[in-house]
Amino acid sequence: MSDLDRFFDKVHSVLETAYLAHEEPWRQSGMSGPEERWVSLRRPVADCMDRSGALLDIGCANGYLLECCLRWTAERGVRIEPYGLDISDKLVALARMRLPAYAEHLYVGNAYDWMPPRRFDYVRTELCYVPGEHERAFVERLLREFLLPGGRLLVANYMEGDPRPERGVLPENHPTRYILDRLLQLGLCPVGYRDGYDPIKDRHVRVAILDATSIP
Ligand SMILES: C[S@@+](CC[C@H](N)C(=O)[O-])C[C@H]1O[C@@H](n2cnc3c(N)ncnc32)[C@H](O)[C@@H]1O
Repeated sequence: MSDLDRFFDKVHSVLETAYLAHEEPWRQSGMSGPEERWVSLRRPVADCMDRSGALLDIGCANGYLLECCLRWTAERGVRIEPYGLDISDKLVALARMRLPAYAEHLYVGNAYDWMPPRRFDYVRTELCYVPGEHERAFVERLLREFLLPGGRLLVANYMEGDPRPERGVLPENHPTRYILDRLLQLGLCPVGYRDGYDPIKDRHVRVAILDATSIP
């Protein structure tokens, strides 16, 4: 087995076990409670969507972010068609139960090499889904092969500003403290961002927005 396969195996088993140990929907998506924390730290993803279209959540876990994005964007008259991808078959099974009307839109696969059956207006991801040395190629593939013309790639950093970001990722990952700095370091130019703040645990989130112009 290659180092890369070992990395994806570890991601799969560690996250699946951790998320399935809980009942609350936000915990099954990797965030400790209470629910207000989830809202403060995930609404910025929905804030990046200002027109109707198809959203692919890469690393959709139990589908709760997709469900919330549908609701949060609908409050502003924006209609999102949800799609999800996750490396864990068990988490995708939960997502299909949560979003039965969209069960056919929820896929099991590894974002590293998954071939999308269509393109999307919005794609949400995180850099930590691949080892640090693969981040640039990963983001570039999403920009070139996953987005519709005019589409936006939303790259979330849920450890934004954390003085020890390595605590939240595996040793093979790059510990990203500031998402805009990391993307610029990779030679990618974000076109905007949205922020979230959780006063309960003093945590910040930044969601960087990229588009076709982000590859120089
Ligand atoms: C923190 S959860 C994200 C949940 C939700 N989308 C959110 O943003 O809050 C990360 C999810 O990504 C999935 N994941 C990690 N690496 C992946 C990869 N290479 N391909 C597909 N899914 C992956 C994990 O199984 C996990 O369910």
